[in-house]
Amino acid sequence: MTNSERAVAVADAMSDIREIDHAGIDRDSVELIRQRLIQLAQQKELFSWSDFPPDDSRDGSTLYLLSQDDDHRFALYLQSVADTTQAPPHDHLTWACIVGLEGKELNRRYEQRAGQGCPKVLDEFVVEHGTGIAFLPDDVHSIHVEGGSLNFHCYGHDLLDLPARNYWSQSDGEWRTMKIQYPIIDARS
Ligand SMILES: [Fe+2]
Repeated sequence: MTNSERAVAVADAMSDIREIDHAGIDRDSVELIRQRLIQLAQQKELFSWSDFPPDDSRDGSTLYLLSQDDDHRFALYLQSVADTTQAPPHDHLTWACIVGLEGKELNRRYEQRAGQGCPKVLDEFVVEHGTGIAFLPDDVHSIHVEGGSLNFHCYGHDLLDLPARNYWSQSDGEWRTMKIQYPIIDARS
């Protein structure tokens, strides 16, 4: 395997995803995006933990950028988790799709939208290799990883360029907003 094989596989997938998005975003189209990323994840040897290790300098969860358009749309990341990581209930302000390569990422979906009070769990889904989960912009989920994971996280828009997204603060008992500022490693070919 080579970097150029990975670049071609990523470019092909993102080209298809751009077309799906162009036709309009709804439950059916994010499902198509999910399926296209599951297909990309079948080339597992191109996306290995050894090439995308968790970065010790951070909190054990590292985002590698694989692709992003010049206008900040269509961002594909690899999230590499050494052991544990969590994200409280939040939305994305754009469509989002998570697809598994290694390990397990527990996703909880919630009944409420941001601003609708304390989130109640709607259902749970474990993302692992061969599976994935897709969200519309105002869907709310939380993530919980134990034992490490490597996953695609794909968004309709570059995370760093998005406005502050909504999250449920358990300690404050209210919805708050947070701008994503954490470092992302640019791994584009
Ligand atoms: Fe999320």
